[in-house]
Amino acid sequence: MPDDGAGMETAKKEKAEQILAEFRLQEEDLKKVMRRMQKEMDRGLRLETHQEASVKMLPTYVRSTPEGSEVGDFLSLDLGGTNFRVMLVKVGEGEAGHWSVKTKHQMYCIPEDAMTGTAEMLFDYISECISDFLDKHQMKHKKLPLGFTFSFPVRHEDIDKGILLNWTKGFKASGAEGNNIVGLLRDAIKRRGDFEMDVVAMVNDTVATMISCYYEDRQCEVGMIVGTGCNACYMEEMHNVELVEGEEGRMCVNTEWGAFGDAGELDEFLLEYDRAVDESSLNPGQQLYEKLIGGKYMGELVRLVLLPLVYEDLLYRAEGSEQLSPPGAFETRFVSHVETCARRRPRIQNVISKVYCLDSEHGRLPSPRAQRGCVHITMGVDGSVYKLHPIFKERFHASVRRLTPSCEITFIQSEDGSGRGAALVSAVACKKAYMLGQ
Ligand code: GLC
Repeated sequence: MPDDGAGMETAKKEKAEQILAEFRLQEEDLKKVMRRMQKEMDRGLRLETHQEASVKMLPTYVRSTPEGSEVGDFLSLDLGGTNFRVMLVKVGEGEAGHWSVKTKHQMYCIPEDAMTGTAEMLFDYISECISDFLDKHQMKHKKLPLGFTFSFPVRHEDIDKGILLNWTKGFKASGAEGNNIVGLLRDAIKRRGDFEMDVVAMVNDTVATMISCYYEDRQCEVGMIVGTGCNACYMEEMHNVELVEGEEGRMCVNTEWGAFGDAGELDEFLLEYDRAVDESSLNPGQQLYEKLIGGKYMGELVRLVLLPLVYEDLLYRAEGSEQLSPPGAFETRFVSHVETCARRRPRIQNVISKVYCLDSEHGRLPSPRAQRGCVHITMGVDGSVYKLHPIFKERFHASVRRLTPSCEITFIQSEDGSGRGAALVSAVACKKAYMLGQ
């Protein structure tokens, strides 16, 4: 090894490069991941293979041809990330169809014991938050239609009925898996007894995102979230949705692609850091694809990569390394922060920034319909990683376009999609309930 300063620097750089090289996925690798994902999606849709498919392709009961829609005020709830949100959303009718706008909102942090205690505790907390919101806005007396954005894998039986298959993203409340989530919410509201709500629809955040972008662009038929978790939904022909009877029209399918890899499909791409993140999570062996990219795990993943770099004196002088030692010490928002700083001062772009640039190469995928040779498609996207990370978006768009050369893809960033989308779906559900009730 050269003993002069410059030589040392070069040697260090080379060593760091060597560590980071593991993160580079070749174009062929991405295509391989893409093909495997496509195969799992097809298996998820089919009745005879659905059970063992890792990508569940869950029917949402959100259909392509709504028979009209109500207008007015809706209460939207959003559970699925680090916070719980309550929103009042106005739905109206315009020239291009129904629009929605958030008029009031409040964010509540979810205490650890509500996330990991019992389902009753969690849903009691949720109804306490709703009660607080209604008090604040003097709306306790109103019985509003309510749309619930519940961002976990749910097997729907209808738009307002669905059982939770399994928790993801660090939630663990006991007694919820295998149960009807809308039922748990209604029970908690009843238990509380100080307000009434008409829970008319439950949707995944990907679905709410897609629906919220639809007013802006009628070709929007994919919704994607890259936030705490990672998932996508899209409109599928009914005759391909074998889990639901009927052949006519289309239905939105919640892919739950975060679970891709749970049957070993990603084994050859997982690095020691990915395995460590998985092993220390609340759901080891599950949501492996999500753990490569979701904000819930990204900070920890980067911390695990940084540690050996620091110990081998490839990054900083080892001072400060003890701050990086505790699990969870490097938050996902720091990743965005470091990247932003590195971009502003490109000449001193350091190894930390490179770590994430390369890591974020992990398997990006085009929408399933796009792979089937479509011409033009619009994708509604939301989530903290997509919105706040300074380069994720550009790289994602570029990779998707490169991998699907025959498609013209437009990306729309959704604003308040979870709340507005839930209200729009509820507005349709209300109308149907009204028609059935006649
Ligand atoms: C997780 C959930 C999924 C959700 C996604 C984004 O993957 O299982 O339902 O859409 O996170 O929030």
